[in-house]
Amino acid sequence: MENMSRRKFVVSLALLGGALSVLPAVADADDSAAPSGAVYWAKIGPAKDFPVNALTFGSYPPEFGRGGVYVKRVDDKTASALSAKCVHRGCRVAFQPSENVFRCPCHHAQYSAAGEHLSGPGHGNLAVLLAKIEGGDVWVQSLTPPRSAG
Ligand code: FES
Repeated sequence: MENMSRRKFVVSLALLGGALSVLPAVADADDSAAPSGAVYWAKIGPAKDFPVNALTFGSYPPEFGRGGVYVKRVDDKTASALSAKCVHRGCRVAFQPSENVFRCPCHHAQYSAAGEHLSGPGHGNLAVLLAKIEGGDVWVQSLTPPRSAG
């Protein structure tokens, strides 16, 4: 699992850069361990709501819980995403564009714009998630399956 996260993180370094977006902090419950090889896709919203080259927050649909992600749309077909869930205890990190860092309001962990842990409690980086644009919508990987309806 750790190797998978590290590999995904390296991929994200090529895709993520500076960005613009600030959002409130709320505890998340989006992404714990997924079965090996499983990819669950969640529709986050219309691509037009995610400006090119900006880190923009999006929420998972209800069936995936209350979690959120930061999406960076590269063009009309390509996007990258980082989990907004702090690796320490799961609070929602907020991007600070003036400093180009994510900060966790709970215990003050800090991450680079690419999700790399810089300081504070917790070990590891923000999870790099697969992302794509299909049918005019942004889709992001969830590390947990959707809850069944019923
Ligand atoms: S939950 Fe983020 S620093 Fe503790």
